[in-house]
Amino acid sequence: MQVRIYKDAATVAKAAAAVFADEITKKDGCVIGLATGSTPVPTYQELIRLNKEGVVDFSKVISYNLDEYVGLAPDHPCSYRRFMNEQLFDHINIDKANTHVPDGLKCNTAEYEEMIHQAGGVDLQLLGIGTDGHIGFNEPADEFVYPTNVVKLTEGTRKDNARFFNSLDEVPTSAISMGIGTIMSARRILMIITGKNKADTVVAALKGPVVPQMPASILRMHQNVLVLLDEDAASKL
Ligand code: F6R
Repeated sequence: MQVRIYKDAATVAKAAAAVFADEITKKDGCVIGLATGSTPVPTYQELIRLNKEGVVDFSKVISYNLDEYVGLAPDHPCSYRRFMNEQLFDHINIDKANTHVPDGLKCNTAEYEEMIHQAGGVDLQLLGIGTDGHIGFNEPADEFVYPTNVVKLTEGTRKDNARFFNSLDEVPTSAISMGIGTIMSARRILMIITGKNKADTVVAALKGPVVPQMPASILRMHQNVLVLLDEDAASKL
């Protein structure tokens, strides 16, 4: 695992976008894994800029998102499909038919896993991290769950994500998520973490034991992981 520390979230975003640009340019039909949440938004803005400037061409890129809330239709204002369209896909030259987000109504776990497999696996997977150490929506548990699955969200995660909804009550209680095995099968993983509120999680994930109670710790068993932190997130390392 390689760890790099940058001054702030903006410089993390520039560095993350450069990693994506490089990977996409290197491989025709590159398969990328994408994340939602606040952390990747500046990276997506950078990628939009690079696409508009002609530096990155998304026309042959295939994407798979990590997760989706159970019970939310793709066009629901708080769905991750809608988030991805608004934050990235609507602004770049990607073919929407090549973009995939798990289906929160059908909960197509096995089909989603198979689609990723048929596409040849993920070349570069982007990850954020929850304050409880979750990756995708794989919450702390007694054992790692490997395939794409339906996960019960912890109250902490629901509270963390309530800012995207009108109230905590509206936050779904479960999500469909790529599993730990799905994520670990990506050939390369890029994790971005910003903000002081993640500083304790960073220490536990990067320095603590590799245990399912801290899901992100498993990334240390992967041979090609790059972690980009801002100084706030790295402040307790
Ligand atoms: C999102 C995802 C989550 C987020 C995590 C951090 O697709 O899989 O693991 O990366 O909850 O979210 P933010 O960036 O909002 O702090």
